[in-house]
Amino acid sequence: MGLPLLKKVVPEPFTKQEYGRFSENGKEFTILRPDTPRPWFNYLSNDIYHAIISHTGGGYSYNKDCKLHRILRYEDHRSDRPGRYLYIKDRQSKKIWSPTWQPLCEPLSSWQATHGFGYTHISATHDDIETNITYFVPRADPCEVWLVKIKNTSTEERRLSLYPYVSFLLGDFYIEQDYKNILLLYNEGYFDKKTNSIVAFKHPTSSRPYETYGFFSSSSAPEGYEIDAEKFLGNYGYLNKPATVVEGTTSNTSVRGKEMVGVFKLGVVLAPGEEKELSLTLGFVEDKKEVPILSKKYHDLTLAHQELEEVKKYWDQELSSIKIKTPDHEFDVMNNFWGKFQLLQCTRWRSAAPYNPGEGGRGFRDTAQDAEAATSLNPELSKRFILKLLANQYETGHAVAGFSDIEGPWEIGSNTGVLGKGDVAVWIPYMVTAYLKETGDFQFIHEKIPFLNGKKSTVWEHLVAAMEHFQKAVGPHGLPLFWKADWNDAFDRCGIKGKGESVWLALAYVRALKQMEELSIFLKRNQWAKKFRKWGKHMSDLVLKKAWDGEWFISLFTDEGKVVGSHKNEEGKIYLNPQSWAILSGVAGDLHQKKLLASVEKFLETDFGPALFAPQYTKYDPKIGRITAFAPGTKENAAIFSHACAFMIVAYAQAHLGEKAFELFKKITPLNGAKKTNIYKAEPYVYAEYCHGLGNQEFGEGAFTWNTGTAAWMFMAAHQWILGVRPTYEGLLIDPVIPKGWREFYIEREFRGSLYKIKVSNPHGVEHGVKEVRVNGKKIKDNLILPSKSAETYDIEVVMG
Ligand code: GLC
Repeated sequence: MGLPLLKKVVPEPFTKQEYGRFSENGKEFTILRPDTPRPWFNYLSNDIYHAIISHTGGGYSYNKDCKLHRILRYEDHRSDRPGRYLYIKDRQSKKIWSPTWQPLCEPLSSWQATHGFGYTHISATHDDIETNITYFVPRADPCEVWLVKIKNTSTEERRLSLYPYVSFLLGDFYIEQDYKNILLLYNEGYFDKKTNSIVAFKHPTSSRPYETYGFFSSSSAPEGYEIDAEKFLGNYGYLNKPATVVEGTTSNTSVRGKEMVGVFKLGVVLAPGEEKELSLTLGFVEDKKEVPILSKKYHDLTLAHQELEEVKKYWDQELSSIKIKTPDHEFDVMNNFWGKFQLLQCTRWRSAAPYNPGEGGRGFRDTAQDAEAATSLNPELSKRFILKLLANQYETGHAVAGFSDIEGPWEIGSNTGVLGKGDVAVWIPYMVTAYLKETGDFQFIHEKIPFLNGKKSTVWEHLVAAMEHFQKAVGPHGLPLFWKADWNDAFDRCGIKGKGESVWLALAYVRALKQMEELSIFLKRNQWAKKFRKWGKHMSDLVLKKAWDGEWFISLFTDEGKVVGSHKNEEGKIYLNPQSWAILSGVAGDLHQKKLLASVEKFLETDFGPALFAPQYTKYDPKIGRITAFAPGTKENAAIFSHACAFMIVAYAQAHLGEKAFELFKKITPLNGAKKTNIYKAEPYVYAEYCHGLGNQEFGEGAFTWNTGTAAWMFMAAHQWILGVRPTYEGLLIDPVIPKGWREFYIEREFRGSLYKIKVSNPHGVEHGVKEVRVNGKKIKDNLILPSKSAETYDIEVVMG
């Protein structure tokens, strides 16, 4: 029994979207017209280089750290400029066009762009010239390659000038924003004839005391080049009419102390029907000696094509470790491909996004959640980040809010007097236990990793320190202290005096303690199991006593002891997270659960999912924080926050409400047909951070795509909770919570070295409950598949009922 081919599935209505469509197998998204309501991006990356690229070539690239090693300038997503462009000029007619559509934004005879895993392809035809550009990032080099094919489809010989273009920043993005006039004076750029490359860099200064080098290189020898941005654009010029392209002249001079671009003038003569190909490489290295090697490497077109194929293979492999087939095609496309791709990209490249130029580094809790989810796809990648995170934990158990691989932890040296975000350490057990359950690598518990102060301690000691920290960091009601934030970053004022307390964090702590109790039992550390149980019971009782509002759980107590998230509040009466996490933590018993679920439905639910809270705040309250200043219905001010909705999906699944879990999953899915492109606007293939909430004039619009914990939680919600195939210490548990209408589904996944082909049938249309499990035809006693000692393939048949 294998996984049925996805190809057999009839494409669903979403493929009819006016602006674009998925390929039949779901692995590519093709955009059919360039004027999408927002730029629709792709992430091209390896472990050290990240290119954010829109469907018209817009976006930026960086090496390792988006703040310090920014390569390209980018205005913002509104203009989606500048980008990785190609200007074409017919030398006879003097006509100019740009096959990427931007930056000229003029009609082309035909145009389309395709985002795939590891590449973006833009093709256009204009004036009988066909252009195909494929952008990709090789598997290991700090560069991106553009493969450009150009074909004459007319019956005449054509003489063309091609002007590939990039706009260099090459240093610290933030300082450049504030002091561009000064920063430009550090610039130097020159042309290296031996490698057909423009080499560009900033001279080091005390604020960035080391050298780095950018380059832009062409496989064809250029007739001329331009590095001076001002000469390229012309006085008061702009990208849609650059002087160099209009006049056809290049200055061919080096630059010192000026804004820099990388532009070549390439002469191409094409006989009727003839096609030519060239490659362009944009890169950034820390050692000057690497420039001549890397800039030339992909001039070899055969090598460049081979590498592109390897990149595609890499992603196919990376996304294939879990495969599913359910009755819902949208669900499958998201969970087989795009959701996983987003999760893996987020795990590597957390800090930069199309909508956020990037402060550099990565948030602790964001990375912890990515690492937790990604462990089922790529445990080695997860482990790498778990190690980094544990090394950013204080010996006291608390952890920093974030850190940069280059600049180190964010908080060291800050003199705020408050220890950062209150919740960071609570995410530690989730990620570590997920890794242990997936891999069975129980030795990891004994591995020694230094705390921030350098003291080497075992992973177990890191976990215990995190839990002990929350025993101490409690406020007047005995609940965990808020400090600058709990999960919600925008509650940034309610706990800064060190008294405010978070109910959500109390629930998250109870959940963590349960996981620690379970781990202690598995490791036979019975004293610890007892202790964690006792702490959990104590905190759980406190929440029930101090935080139950009658129909739902409150959200927090401020420094002044005022309650937020209660029927007593005018605005912000009921919050979603304390309700979902009351279920996730097991604190809500049946009665509480029934009531709070009814309240979520009644006060928060919308067509696109439940709002983060209601009613929205309408004016700034300095005792609560910036959440009250955001436009009502945006971001944390009561938007439909996808990450929080994903928590709710898991809560529904834990409550065995399959219909509800699936219904909400579909509401959050970006390619959901109910999301009209002109209203939703954002990419239909990756999760957005939030959707504008009810009452907001943009209700239904998606915002801040790509970098969001949504990818991690939607992945876990789908695979582990709805489909219910969940790694445990002892084995693989099969416990689906599905819509009644599903009669069967399949999952194929590896688990600790063996391959499991799981077929679940649901003859009686139940939402939950497993009646029988057979492994290679043999009935087992329950729904737990024990790991196999030898690497084998198993057919698993599950009957629900
Ligand atoms: C953003 C942050 C995340 C935070 C959430 C809610 O997604 O990256 O850390 O939990 O907002 O404020």
